[in-house]
Amino acid sequence: MRKLVFITNELPDVAYRFLRLQYAVTWNKRQLTESQLASKVKPFHAILTTLADPVTEKVLLAAPRLKCVANCAVGYNNIDLKAARTRRIWVTNTPDVLTEATADTAWALLLACARRVPEGDRIVRAGKFKGAHPLMLLGVDLHEKTLGIFGFGRIGKAVARRGRGWAMKVIYYQRHRESLAVERRYNAHCVSFETLLKSSDFLSVNSPLTPETRGRFTATEFRKMKPTAIFINTGRGATHREKDLAEALQKGWIYSAGLDVYEMEPRVEKRLLKLQNCTLLPHIGSATVETRNAMAFLAAENIHAVLSGRRPKTPVFSL
Ligand code: NAP
Ligand code: GLV
Repeated sequence: MRKLVFITNELPDVAYRFLRLQYAVTWNKRQLTESQLASKVKPFHAILTTLADPVTEKVLLAAPRLKCVANCAVGYNNIDLKAARTRRIWVTNTPDVLTEATADTAWALLLACARRVPEGDRIVRAGKFKGAHPLMLLGVDLHEKTLGIFGFGRIGKAVARRGRGWAMKVIYYQRHRESLAVERRYNAHCVSFETLLKSSDFLSVNSPLTPETRGRFTATEFRKMKPTAIFINTGRGATHREKDLAEALQKGWIYSAGLDVYEMEPRVEKRLLKLQNCTLLPHIGSATVETRNAMAFLAAENIHAVLSGRRPKTPVFSL
């Protein structure tokens, strides 16, 4: 009998087309809650999930045949890893294939904030453009400024690499210092969290959401940043406190912010919606045709590997 695979959400169809060659695939196309997911997973040997799916212990307990949860995302904070490991269920993610697209999104936000692109767009569309004015929408320069990276991993490094084009000085903070060779390659300096806050002209969050990074950027941290600083988050929204960020932007503790991710996603702090000095994207960090195809295909390959008795290409942990 063919093994059963469940795709939990809409995805590029490369995953379905690949998996259906070998497996009986059920493809659900609307967002499921935890209870709905738990009520559907019972017969399946593998599930292909997205970061919006809460793969909790309750869901895993409801799936006695489950061998693999293949998340179509590099982040996996939506999955109870401990519960999966205890039941010897592989959890896989989609690293590398989305690194460049996500770094581009961080830079899209960075440039949008620095040069006030969305504000300009709104002025023109509202018919308020009455001709060029020497004081209209003055932004900030990027050239030779300091780019700070919180979480100097794959995406953090790709964000840093783009800074070369603007001759930026790169500083980073994470728990482990990179080797000298890596630091030289990126012309990056490892600094304390305090220095990152105080010295960054642009601070890009590229860490995962973990108990340690949750709520790491609060009013206290925003107050330590430069009043001219721009805060970018394409990591996970819960690393910053959104109410505190709104206050920081309102009170001018920092200059502006660019967000792709939100603390209580998909809910967005109401005050942010009214502020001009922030640019808001709907979690589209990796959303290009090529990248989403590559992610979906990698997730499908991981499922195929596990169901064929092999180690998956990109496991989150080893079994
Ligand atoms: P990665 O290569 O694992 O890099 C993560 C980096 O974060 C590591 O270098 C790690 O270094 C650092 N880190 C972990 N805990 C930290 C802490 N407590 N304080 C400071 N730094 C910490 O992962 P990646 O592929 O770059 O992806 C990073 C994250 O980006 C993902 O987990 C996901 O949440 C997010 N993401 C978002 C989008 C989007 O659509 N917006 C797209 C892709 C990824 P240490 O271990 O040394 O601390
Ligand atoms: C997106 O947010 C991801 O983690 O891939």
